[in-house]
Amino acid sequence: MTALTRLPAAAMPIPQTLHGFRLEASSPSPRLLNLHFPAETVQAFTDAVAHWPVQALEYKSFLRFRVAKILDDLCRNTLQPVLINTLVDRDTGALLVTPEGLDRVEQAEEMVKFATAVAHLMGRSNFDAMSGQYYARFVVKNVDDSDSYLRQPHRVMELHNDGTFVEQDTDYVLMMKVDEQNMQGGNSLLLHLDDWEELETFYHHPLARREMRWTAPPSKKVDRDIFHPVFDVDTEGRPIMAYIDQFVQPKNFEEGNWLAELSDSLEGSAHKLSVPVPTGSFLLINNHFWLHGRDRFTPHPELRRELMRQRGYFTHAKTLRQPRQL
Ligand SMILES: [Fe+2]
Repeated sequence: MTALTRLPAAAMPIPQTLHGFRLEASSPSPRLLNLHFPAETVQAFTDAVAHWPVQALEYKSFLRFRVAKILDDLCRNTLQPVLINTLVDRDTGALLVTPEGLDRVEQAEEMVKFATAVAHLMGRSNFDAMSGQYYARFVVKNVDDSDSYLRQPHRVMELHNDGTFVEQDTDYVLMMKVDEQNMQGGNSLLLHLDDWEELETFYHHPLARREMRWTAPPSKKVDRDIFHPVFDVDTEGRPIMAYIDQFVQPKNFEEGNWLAELSDSLEGSAHKLSVPVPTGSFLLINNHFWLHGRDRFTPHPELRRELMRQRGYFTHAKTLRQPRQL
């Protein structure tokens, strides 16, 4: 771990001194920052929100913002500007967040509350159709009979963006490790668009801006197709992506082969990061200029991994030029 030598380009003023947390560059990449909360901050937060079970946050949306404020107040209001700025900073846009002391599956409720607080300082998490809540917890086991690669452990889940087949803007993705037993492998994979060797080639191709059809399997509980191109530009004209290999439906030979080449190129990038996420930690990334995936696991009969995710839209700074509302 190296000390952070530069702060993100400011979408809002950054405090001179940070309280209640540390921010450092990570070893996998200077683009991925480690946001570390010491045990005192975490304990003070869990005590302050102990009277609300997660169900209260599910039923009353505004409480998600209340717990966010409680965490920011504990950090003397130095946390919110750091989160807002980092998530839209093109040079970084990714955090590995570690709340010290939240690292056992029995603390899953506290984990959800903590992650909710962090997310709601810079955004609002969307309804997740798979769970019917603003977050989803799901388990990966040794055997799986689902209809996508989400819960299949022995395969790589290829690099992709989230939210490609839903109508809501998906500005951020939060992926938390709630539990892990008998796991070898399965690191998170990340690729920043500006590190992809062939970005220019694919971004300038005539098919880059062609509307394509995106559809989801039944488990996603999304019942209609949506249409958008693979590439767009951000508020400053830089490339962004909305792509996932499993759910794009090319209409012909030309589109199908271009998408297959794009997939090969992404998977073949030498700049993919392989990031271990410890239990209780979570990745929080800008979903427009970071792609994410998951490396394969080694099979084990007692293998168990539980994850929690939230996806949502930014409430302060923006990356998208315009909302992708249809
Ligand atoms: Fe994903």
